[in-house]
Amino acid sequence: MFPMEKLVSLCKRRGYMFQSSEIYGGLNGFWDYGPLGVELKRNVKDAWWHDMVSGHDELSVLQGAPSEYEMTGLDCTIIMHPQVWKCSGHYDLFHDYMVDCRQTRKRYRHDQVRGRWAEAKGQKVFVTTMVETDQEDEESLRRAMKFFKLRNKDADQLSWDGGYRVLTEIDDFSQVLGPDANELGTLTEPREFNLMFKTYVGALSGEEGAAFLRPETAQGIFVNFKNVVDSSRVKIPFGIAQVGKSFRNEITPRNFTFRSREFEQMEIEFFCHPNSSQQWYRFWRDRRLQWYKDLGLSGERLILREHHTDELSHYSTGTADIEYAFPFLPEGEFGELEGIAHRGDFDLRSHMEGKLDEKSNPLTVQLGEDGKPKYRGSGKDLTYRDELTNERFTPHVVEPSAGADRATLAFLCEAYHEDEAPDENGKLQSRVVLRLNPRLAPLKAAIFPLVKKDGMPEVAKDIYRALKKKFNVFYDEKGAVGRRYRRQDEAGTPYCITVDGESLQDKTVTIRDRDSLEQVRVRIDDVVSEIENRVSCS
Ligand code: GAP
Repeated sequence: MFPMEKLVSLCKRRGYMFQSSEIYGGLNGFWDYGPLGVELKRNVKDAWWHDMVSGHDELSVLQGAPSEYEMTGLDCTIIMHPQVWKCSGHYDLFHDYMVDCRQTRKRYRHDQVRGRWAEAKGQKVFVTTMVETDQEDEESLRRAMKFFKLRNKDADQLSWDGGYRVLTEIDDFSQVLGPDANELGTLTEPREFNLMFKTYVGALSGEEGAAFLRPETAQGIFVNFKNVVDSSRVKIPFGIAQVGKSFRNEITPRNFTFRSREFEQMEIEFFCHPNSSQQWYRFWRDRRLQWYKDLGLSGERLILREHHTDELSHYSTGTADIEYAFPFLPEGEFGELEGIAHRGDFDLRSHMEGKLDEKSNPLTVQLGEDGKPKYRGSGKDLTYRDELTNERFTPHVVEPSAGADRATLAFLCEAYHEDEAPDENGKLQSRVVLRLNPRLAPLKAAIFPLVKKDGMPEVAKDIYRALKKKFNVFYDEKGAVGRRYRRQDEAGTPYCITVDGESLQDKTVTIRDRDSLEQVRVRIDDVVSEIENRVSCS
């Protein structure tokens, strides 16, 4: 695949993404979406919402589903009652391990520091780096040579013992050269670091006013379960969907937008009877994988990975990740796009009864020293009564949880291609093209008058106005038409409509397809329906 820098540079050049607060040097882990990026990400979220929620056919049994089901949505606040995070487990358990460097005062995630044992002058040192994997060899060599004070001509005095290892595999840090340090043994022992951003609500400055920015959208759905059941007449099985921002104070945000500190999630909590929850889990796992395929992720770069039993949370009887081979990862490695988890009745029970015992029996309430639940739940009844059978039970939950930014990035990576296309004189010119699915493309079409005279701009502007009522389209009359095509190829615009001399005679225009480069003549009166057809069939 292409080097990631090419996509990063295209994203900046064409206004897909910018680093947040760039004019002040940027803020690590935060990204802004530019004029094209905002449209692309919005289309990803809209496609998800349409395909999973608003366009869902509640009257039919979908392929692989045990029965019909309903879907509805919510939009909850980012800051919620602090007790939510205590009962969800995030307050106690949502942490990564970090190590600090006493020399540079930098902080790293324990499981992300990689290094190799290097030996020279009778000394063995674990040389670490935090660079991308494809730069590791060069950077490790540079650091080891510098540490051992070796010149290039003495490089043969340096030897490596074994391949790369993660810092978690090293017990004693005394011989570790930290990623930015020039002395040994400057890294501290790993310590827990809670990933939730803390803030203060209202005028209370102390812990009384402490609250957290949500680290997932899911909890807003669980705590509103009863409200939704009581107000919307949905019947189990049904799903509640939510799209919105989540925040995690990642220790080492990296890989462009893949691991950010502020990001958007697209989550469904699907409530069902415990007896059919395994079938629903399999249904959602397969349905979500198919969604990515339908929108253009395909081939060997997209996989479904079932977690091994030892990877599962204690309350989960099944979790699968949908993963994509992002170009910034080493060959053969995949990054998580979405997790589909069978969460049992863990969340609803936690919010009813209080914080549950994480270690042994998930169904027992964890007791504090006073013999009462450590964190009390809401005490509200979050069970469900089946009106037909009169059975009362705590629903089981299947949770397909996707990241809007990661999906957007994967669609961009898959779309990026370099090839050749003929210019206006038929000469092949190299081009960068984003082969985005037309549903996702920021601009659906661009409209060009071949030249800026003879009435062509007027006709082209009329077509633009007609299309603009339905789609985001672009009008461009500047420069050679070949260059205009290439600009749109780079922006991922699937169709270019050109008004030429013939158009004035026979009221037709050409529509050029971005991927096949095929050009067909279409009656001007049919342009809107033609574009509509093409976009909806994609
Ligand atoms: N409610 C379950 C949950 O939040 P998760 O695996 O922690 O599960 C779900 O997150 C999805 O959210 C991930 O698959 C990923 O797409 C996205 N995500 C999580 N952390 C992220 C981050 N730091 N930056 C960007 N996306 C992230």
